[in-house]
Amino acid sequence: METPPNVFVFDTPEQLALAAAERFIEIAAKLDGELDRISVALAGGKTPKRVYELLATEAFKSRVRWSQVHLFFGDERAVPPTHPDSNYRMVYETLISKVPIPSGNVHRMIGEGDAKENAHDYEKYLRSFFAGFPWPRFDLVWLGMGEDGHTASLFPHSDALNEQSRWVLATKNETTGQQRITLTLPVLNHAAQVMFLVTGKEKAQRLAEALRPRTELKLLPVQAIAPVAGKLEWFVDGAAASCL
Ligand code: 6PG
Repeated sequence: METPPNVFVFDTPEQLALAAAERFIEIAAKLDGELDRISVALAGGKTPKRVYELLATEAFKSRVRWSQVHLFFGDERAVPPTHPDSNYRMVYETLISKVPIPSGNVHRMIGEGDAKENAHDYEKYLRSFFAGFPWPRFDLVWLGMGEDGHTASLFPHSDALNEQSRWVLATKNETTGQQRITLTLPVLNHAAQVMFLVTGKEKAQRLAEALRPRTELKLLPVQAIAPVAGKLEWFVDGAAASCL
């Protein structure tokens, strides 16, 4: 299969993370002149950790005007921010605690408590932050891909995949039973730039399927990511690309 032009293959996860961090700097620098703020929706899970760690190093953090960066979350596990599964905890430990970003620029998705209520509250918050927009326009959305082809917390066969009006929903990882909160497909697809970060040979088969012409979206949620007026890129490592 020919590698599509928007798929960038890196030899190692470290090279992928360096490139993703550089892309963040590029986007932040470009927008710095145009906007008074940039909004980024962060991916959870393990893959993006190294990107966040790199952004917190001197080589990168001094190149960002953090007062203009607003960090949101693409999804969250329904756990407290101190829980080992919390995406917020992972981002706090790798990035937020290490860069001079104003606390008011970090928009945590509340995980603890009732997931449905938390989804409503985050949606209310987003609608006020992006007041005047029919959909939020994130300048950058980072996403991962699960081995089952899920992204954010949009899992195969989930009714959430049909959502066309809500911005944030409570969902469930049927494999683990874990409650989640997630941005919905229309929100993700209204971003200016969506970037998948995928590494590891365990993702190779699914990635090859994901990059083929669209199949049944309920089976492969990542294929439902198709920005309406934005850019979609895949940053993958050689192991994940081994079936392309
Ligand atoms: C989450 C993520 C999820 C993740 C994929 C890949 O909260 O877990 O939003 O969609 O990106 O499951 O996870 P890994 O990077 O850990 O493989």
